[in-house]
Amino acid sequence: MPENIERTRVGIVGAGPAGLVLALLLRRAGIASVILEARSRAYCEQRIRAGVLEHGTVDLLDALGVGDRMRREGLVHHGVYLRFGGRSHRIDFPDLTGKNIMVYGQHEVVKDLIAEHVRAGESPRFEVSDVRVEGIESDRPSIHYRDASGADRVLACDFIAGCDGFHGVTRGAIPPELLAVYERVYPFAWLGILSDSPPVCEELIYSNHDRGFALFSQRSPTVQRMYLQCAPDEDLGGWPDERIWDELQRRLEGEAAPQLVIGPITQKGVTPMRSFVVEPMQYGRLFLAGDAAHIVPPTGAKGMNLAIADVAVLSGALAAWYAGRGSAELDAYSTRCLGRVWKAERFSWWMTSMLHRNDRDDAFGRRLQLAELEYVVNSRAASQSLAENYVGLPFPNIYFR
Ligand code: FAD
Ligand code: DHB
Repeated sequence: MPENIERTRVGIVGAGPAGLVLALLLRRAGIASVILEARSRAYCEQRIRAGVLEHGTVDLLDALGVGDRMRREGLVHHGVYLRFGGRSHRIDFPDLTGKNIMVYGQHEVVKDLIAEHVRAGESPRFEVSDVRVEGIESDRPSIHYRDASGADRVLACDFIAGCDGFHGVTRGAIPPELLAVYERVYPFAWLGILSDSPPVCEELIYSNHDRGFALFSQRSPTVQRMYLQCAPDEDLGGWPDERIWDELQRRLEGEAAPQLVIGPITQKGVTPMRSFVVEPMQYGRLFLAGDAAHIVPPTGAKGMNLAIADVAVLSGALAAWYAGRGSAELDAYSTRCLGRVWKAERFSWWMTSMLHRNDRDDAFGRRLQLAELEYVVNSRAASQSLAENYVGLPFPNIYFR
C-alpha cells in the first residue's frame, strides 16, 4: 500500500460532538476509526455553542467513561422558568417526568471527549483540508485530504460517517436528486453573550417579552450565558456592553424581576435560526449524523443532543454489521433516526414560535401566543408535554451490545 494511503474501518469527518462520540462508541465495540477535523484542537475546544444536556446524553457520556468532570462541574437543573406578562412560571421536571437536565457547555463536553481520544493514543487528525469523499456507492469508499503538514493523503475505509456539521462537505457527496430537503428560516436570530457574573436565577429563564425573546442560562456559578432575540443580520457593532445589559434587564421586567449583576462580557456572537432536515441521512456507504443532516433553532437546546442520539444509533448498526448480523440495521439507520429528529424539529419550532416576537405576525397571532403560554403553564398535561421533550425523548439504547 503506498505510504500516503492508510486503512481504517470507519472514516469520520468532523470532531464535533457527533464525530467524537461515534469514535468512542466504535472503540468500545472494537471497531477502528479515524477522525479528520478541519479546525485546530484549540478552536474546537473553545467554540461556544449549546449548554443543556438531556438525561440520555448524560447517561451516555457516563457510560463512555467521560462523565467525571461533567458530574463535578456541571449543574443539575430540576426545572426551567417561562416568563411572560411580567410573571415567571416554573416547569418542574422531576414532578412532571421523574428526570432532570444537566447544564454543561458543549465546548466542555468536546474537551472531555478529545482528552479521552488523546489518552487512548488516537487523537483526531486536526487541521486537515481539502476533504473529499469518493466511492461511497462501492464497498471501498475513501476520504482524500491534505494533512496539517500539507501532505496529500487517502483514508481507505469500509464506511464513512459525515459528522462535519451544517457547512461540511459530506452531505454534498449524495446525488442531490436523491435528497429531499425540508427547511424553514426564521426572521430573527440570537445575540449570545458569556459574562463573568453570578446567576440571574437558580434555573434557566425563557422570557417572552414585547421587545423580543431573552434567555438567561448559565455555565458555572461565576459564568453566565445569555441570549437576546435580534435581527438575522444584526451588527454587533451596535451592541456595546451597556446596551446588552440594559436590554436583558428590560426583557425581565415585571413581578419579582431578578436584578442582573453586571460583569465583564467575555464573548459575543450572533446565532442564526434555521430548521433543516435532509432525507434520507445515508447513501451507499456514507452515513450523515448530527448537524450534517439536520439543524434545529436553538430554543429548547436540542441540537447537540440530537447529534449524539444519531451516533448512538449508527454505532449500534455498525457493530451489528461487524458482528456478522448483516446490513438490516445499517439500512434502517436513517428511518430510525428521523423519527426522533422530526419530534425534536417539532419541539424546537414550537418553542421558537411560542417564545419569540414575530414582526410578520398580527395582533391576533400575538394573543394566540400568550394564550398558548397561559395554557402550557396552567395545564398539567401541557406542562408535562413541554417537560418530557425538554428533558429528552427516549434515547436510542442500542449502543453497548
Ligand atoms: P458540529 O459541532 O458542527 O461539528 C462538526 C465538525 O466538523 C466541526 O468541528 C467542523 O470544524 C468540522 N468540519 C466541518 N467541515 C469539515 C470538513 N470539510 N472537513 C473536516 N472537518 C470539517 N444548539 C443548542 O442546542 N443550543 C445552542 O445554544 C446552540 N448554539 C449554537 C451556536 C452556533 C453558532 C452553532 C453553529 C450551533 C449551535 N447549536 C446550539 C447547535 C449545536 O451546537 C449543534 O447541534 C452541535 O454542535 C452538532 O454537533 P455536530 O457534531 O453534528 O456538528
Ligand atoms: C442554552 C442554549 C439553548 O438553546 C437553550 O435552549 C438553553 C440553554 C445554553 O447555551 O445554555
